[in-house]
Amino acid sequence: MPRPGSGFFEKLAKLPVLAEVGNWMPRTVKRGLCQEVVLQGDQVRLSDLPVLTTWPEDGGPFITLGLSHTRNKQTGHRNVGLYRLQVFDDRTLGFHTQLHHDGARNRHGYHLDERMPVAVSFGGDPALTYAATAPLPPFLSEVMFAGFLRGEGIEMVPCVTNDLEVPADSEIVIEGYVNPGELRREGPFGDHTGYYSLADDYPVLHVEAITMRRNPVFPATIVGRPPQEDAYLGLATERIFLPLLRLVLPEIRDMHLPAAGAFHNLVILSMKKEYPGHAQK
Ligand SMILES: Cc1cc2nc3c(=O)[nH]c(=O)nc-3n(C[C@H](O)[C@H](O)[C@H](O)COP(=O)(O)O)c2cc1C
Repeated sequence: MPRPGSGFFEKLAKLPVLAEVGNWMPRTVKRGLCQEVVLQGDQVRLSDLPVLTTWPEDGGPFITLGLSHTRNKQTGHRNVGLYRLQVFDDRTLGFHTQLHHDGARNRHGYHLDERMPVAVSFGGDPALTYAATAPLPPFLSEVMFAGFLRGEGIEMVPCVTNDLEVPADSEIVIEGYVNPGELRREGPFGDHTGYYSLADDYPVLHVEAITMRRNPVFPATIVGRPPQEDAYLGLATERIFLPLLRLVLPEIRDMHLPAAGAFHNLVILSMKKEYPGHAQK
């Protein structure tokens, strides 16, 4: 007969938590609203999308609220990141994955003669749009994190031209691939620092298909001198991640990431100081 403290009861006590985690997991479904219309081959025209050119010296029109889905070839983990995408022409986009982000890390896992599949989804539950901007470790899925935030797993549908999955209720999905060795000059772009980020070489996303709802809405956000809309995404990160930070550094009381510092460039902390030099630690 198992006794309390033997490990059996602890495991039993955790079951409701496990059941809850199960609810956050994504579910694969066969059909999605996002594939009511499927455009392939010559039907693919990025110029049909109302992509914004915001500032006078921007290098062209930029997609600003697309969620880029990639997969880590070695671990199989899916990743969703919000990256700007410059429209070069009807079939190619700049894939602006900064070097320290998972989208870039995943590309480095492919051989030069392989193609990395990419899908860019628009719309669906805003929890996933937020999760795509959140500083999650590579092993933690944004799709699952969004399921946790909304208390219910997201329904995902397989892409038409590759083996990635996208939220079934997306408005629009761009499917394509990146050749790991191919770079092209991208930018400049009026960025959320309030200055232009200079033109530089970034990967190229070749578009193979565009799928969408019958009457889709095309989401976009204005990026520029702070505060813009993305300031509130930063504010959400500040509040959601404070308890996590305090798990590791319990002396931290509160933190603020001012929009003027573009979130990651300035962090103001208050702490319970316990010994000389504690703040330096
Ligand atoms: C409006 C907006 C635009 C962004 N544009 C880019 C971008 O072009 N490239 C990039 O690497 N990160 C960009 N970010 C930041 C990433 O979305 C964020 O750091 C995310 O956590 C990266 O995810 P990853 O590490 O899973 O790739 C942007 C964030 C926002 C809110």
